[in-house]
Amino acid sequence: MSELDLNPARGSVQPQRTAPFIDRDALVELYLQNRRTTQWLFDLLHPDAYYERPIALRQPVVFYEGHLAGFAVNILLKGALGRAGIDESLELLFARGIDPDSPQDVTQQSWPSREVVSDYVTAATDAVVDALRHEDFGSVTDPENRRLMAAWTIVEHDPMHHETLLYMWHQLDPALKRRPAELRPSPSEPGSLGNTTVDVPHGLATLGADRRELRFGWDNEFPSEQVAVPSFQIDRYNVTNGDFLKFVEAGGYQNSALWTDSEWRWLNDSEKRHPTFWVDRGGQWYWRGMFEEVPLPSTWPVWVSQAEATAYARWSGRRLPTEAEFHRAAFGTPEGGENLFPWGNARPEPRHGNFDLQRLDPVPVGSYPDGVSAWGIHDLIGNGWEWTSTIFAPFKGFAPMITYPVYSTDFFDDMHFVLKGASPATSVLHIRRSFRNWFRPNYPYVYAGFRTVAM
Ligand code: AVJ
Ligand code: FE
Repeated sequence: MSELDLNPARGSVQPQRTAPFIDRDALVELYLQNRRTTQWLFDLLHPDAYYERPIALRQPVVFYEGHLAGFAVNILLKGALGRAGIDESLELLFARGIDPDSPQDVTQQSWPSREVVSDYVTAATDAVVDALRHEDFGSVTDPENRRLMAAWTIVEHDPMHHETLLYMWHQLDPALKRRPAELRPSPSEPGSLGNTTVDVPHGLATLGADRRELRFGWDNEFPSEQVAVPSFQIDRYNVTNGDFLKFVEAGGYQNSALWTDSEWRWLNDSEKRHPTFWVDRGGQWYWRGMFEEVPLPSTWPVWVSQAEATAYARWSGRRLPTEAEFHRAAFGTPEGGENLFPWGNARPEPRHGNFDLQRLDPVPVGSYPDGVSAWGIHDLIGNGWEWTSTIFAPFKGFAPMITYPVYSTDFFDDMHFVLKGASPATSVLHIRRSFRNWFRPNYPYVYAGFRTVAM
């Protein structure tokens, strides 16, 4: 299935869910692999795109090149190791890259020249690699070991932004991008599989994880929490573009009964009438890919905001799954146990799903039979994040992580929803049961879709 492998970073180092810790050389290798992916991503852009801001709610391109390097300096070198930084003012400028509330909140300023940024990145990379090679990283089994946690924080932070950058690049005019030679389109078959549903009986779901279970996790993953989940019925496949077209044609975007007041206002203010990834060309629907438009592939999962997903679910007399229901569907088993992954406990491989930059596009739903869950549910990890109806909030016993205390706390504001799973651009480093993603319900740029449930 994944005959092409875009990921310049995939090497011999595979993540394990649990201790033992990988050695120092492997950590350095992961960091260098991240650098190669960053380089590959920036090479996709025409130099003229460097100061573009493709998504009004995010920072311009230039910021992210500095942010990846600056974050590593701030968190590892200065924060955990007590070393000197490289450039105080750049480290302040590049400190944070999360989603501002409104376009006005994006810092309006003049940015350094590309040369200044790339000199900084080179110096920062050298210093970080030197630290990873030579500093003492202490006990690998101590979950409070700040130095080691900082090393993992920077190693997992890079691929998070690799995904941010790809969906930002996606919104740029193709004239500002350079298509790599190795890229081939995903298959798209006409027609529709016809979704079916699966009954998942009541049972327990373990959300989160305990610190000693993981070699690294972000703060919002801890501690674990057991939830009793009543029985429900869930779609076997993600809702596809073909399915969603029926909602569009039935006037779903014009029917105020399907939207909350604030979503309805957003819809009208932004004059939104269809998914952001779709474009209407003289009455024909196309899908806006990274480099070109293709006739709307009806069997690909539809990628939409949570508000659009919720409206579709309402229209079909159903609803979005909760985070706990996603866990039951993905990790629960008829025998009453829980697996680490939908396919069992084997570590993730390309055959299990469309993740880790095997390709840029989605593929038709149901393309990864090796990745189905114990209930026969497809594509729970890969081919697009999955929106849930669960507001992003801490588990009982949450504590902000010492290496980066604002990672989650700023977003426990009842305005973000949990996403689970993974997209084609999600690194294998983030593929673990407890990983939680979050965005606002009207954020339409992420590679995220949904499935519906009833009962
Ligand atoms: C977890 C993807 C919502 O990109 O806003 C990156 C991740 N936090 N740097 C984001 C993040 C700090 C965050 N998401
Ligand atoms: Fe960041």
